[in-house]
Amino acid sequence: MCGIIGIASNKPVVSNIIQSLKKLEYRGYDSAGIATFANGFIDEKKCTGRVDNLEKILFKNPSSGSIGIGHVRWATHGIPSQINAHPHSSEEVSVVHNGIIENSNEIKKDLEKKGYKFKSQTDTEVITFLLTDFLKDFDLINTINKTLKKLNGSFALGILFKKFNNLVVGARRGSPLAVGYGPEENYLGSDSYALKSMTNKITYLDDGDICLLTNNKVDFYNSKNKKINKEILTLSSEKHTAEKGHYKDFMSKEINEQNVTAKTCIKEYVDQIRRDINLYNFPIKPKEIEKIVLIGCGTAFHSCAVAKYWFEEFTNAEIEIDIASEFRYRKVQFKKKNLYIFVSQSGETADTLAALDLCKKNKVKTCSIVNVVESSIARLSDFVLPIHAGPEIGVASTKAFIGQMLVLYILAIKISEVRKELSGPVYVKKINELKKLPELIKKTLLCQDKIQVIAKDFLQARGAMFMGRGLSFPIALEGALKLKELSYLHAEGYPAGEMKHGPLALIEEGLPVVILAPKDKYFEKTISNMQEVIARGGKVILISNDNNTVTSENVRFSLEVPKSDEQLTPFIMAIPLQLLAYHVASLKNCNIDKPRNLAKSVTVE
Ligand code: M6R
Repeated sequence: MCGIIGIASNKPVVSNIIQSLKKLEYRGYDSAGIATFANGFIDEKKCTGRVDNLEKILFKNPSSGSIGIGHVRWATHGIPSQINAHPHSSEEVSVVHNGIIENSNEIKKDLEKKGYKFKSQTDTEVITFLLTDFLKDFDLINTINKTLKKLNGSFALGILFKKFNNLVVGARRGSPLAVGYGPEENYLGSDSYALKSMTNKITYLDDGDICLLTNNKVDFYNSKNKKINKEILTLSSEKHTAEKGHYKDFMSKEINEQNVTAKTCIKEYVDQIRRDINLYNFPIKPKEIEKIVLIGCGTAFHSCAVAKYWFEEFTNAEIEIDIASEFRYRKVQFKKKNLYIFVSQSGETADTLAALDLCKKNKVKTCSIVNVVESSIARLSDFVLPIHAGPEIGVASTKAFIGQMLVLYILAIKISEVRKELSGPVYVKKINELKKLPELIKKTLLCQDKIQVIAKDFLQARGAMFMGRGLSFPIALEGALKLKELSYLHAEGYPAGEMKHGPLALIEEGLPVVILAPKDKYFEKTISNMQEVIARGGKVILISNDNNTVTSENVRFSLEVPKSDEQLTPFIMAIPLQLLAYHVASLKNCNIDKPRNLAKSVTVE
């Protein structure tokens, strides 16, 4: 999960490469670098930290050139350092890389025997030296294909060759790479988002493809050295902006616009006049589905975990959820009557993509729920349900979570209605309740001031726990993930009924414990679990939509959220938890949009 940009132009490219790298920082931000051709040489500049640091270096010591590549790194092999930052260059070749070369150690040994001296600890440098070595005896395309054949693993590459100083070269296997077409210049990017400000004409490379870009031409080759033609796509125009506006950071913007996210998504799927859900050309007849398997990673997996409760409530089909990194390696029994649903904001998550690929190879029906409709996951699946949330830039997923849950909820009620498991009147009632959701989210967002006060209480804490039952259990998991991801505070989410089986031992005087207790069939039981926490000194933060029922002077904070249809409580409960993580991290001066060690799009395993 690094970001790659390449530009072949007839005018200076440095400033456009820097601007694109800033857009790509969501993919990695522990180091950055650039290489251009200047005066017959490859000019390489790199630094640790953010693109701003690279900009400062270039200000003091400018680079020139009309052909260049740039990179933002999320370290896999080797610590974040200037030496390990990309590009990795020899006299002849400069390489930027996204992905992992699994056999880099063996290749390195062979190259060292030939006299190549490695400077970095990365797996990327072997690519630089393999290209340099093959170039002595082979033409350009042969050199690239011979190099790629030596590599195991997944990668996307951007390459400059001193010998071909009007070219930017790209190649991919397993990691996404796109070419963009501009006026008198062409672009290479690890995703279309980085290219969107420059062009909406895009070609996606497939595994094994190589591209050669000059300022006025793009040629494609396959792994057999044959020239191939590729389709040029016109990207959808993006109504949403990727600017912060008056917000301090993207995350606060993204949290605060969740009512709009919900409104847009509902508008896209719900026919307001017919009070029906639009779902055309679904890849499998809902009545024929025997089992639905929901797959994702991180927050996307949590949306699947919430959806399991919905599908089980509304349909008789069997429901299974799976974490993509586990699913892809298990001995799964694929069945024709199963529907496999992949949930991903970015649509590029390597594990989710690999799990989808496995399903495709086993010829079963697939559907994806994504935010980025041009993404690899969207393009590979049989059917795409976009969440219409607009670009999500903050690494912590917030509005995309709301969007993913919404599409899953919409799908659950539609499938159940078609299968006649949900009666007509109940279906219409569900749609009517759903239409109230954006307003309820807006009201919930008003709890910010109270959350700021609660957040202060977390500053002295060594950790925190989140508990809920039923639909609130996956939300507890999500609350804990948000808190650890943003504030680096240890946090765990548990089904409240599970506390006595071990986790209760963690409760000590002053430990913050967030209890999610909407007024549902679990309410009384959750409140009993809360009392058990209080009895052991836990500092309880109760979040409910019926706080009056609970009288306990030992509840430290009691936050009341708006009442909603029982099945819609996950949307409401998630918001205070996002805000809590945000404000704790903010008080601790953590980098909100770019938490340490993480990246927005996890395109490596
Ligand atoms: O792009 P995806 O939805 O596939 O990403 C999956 C996870 O990496 C992501 O949800 C991650 O857990 C978030 N940073 C959590 O906030």
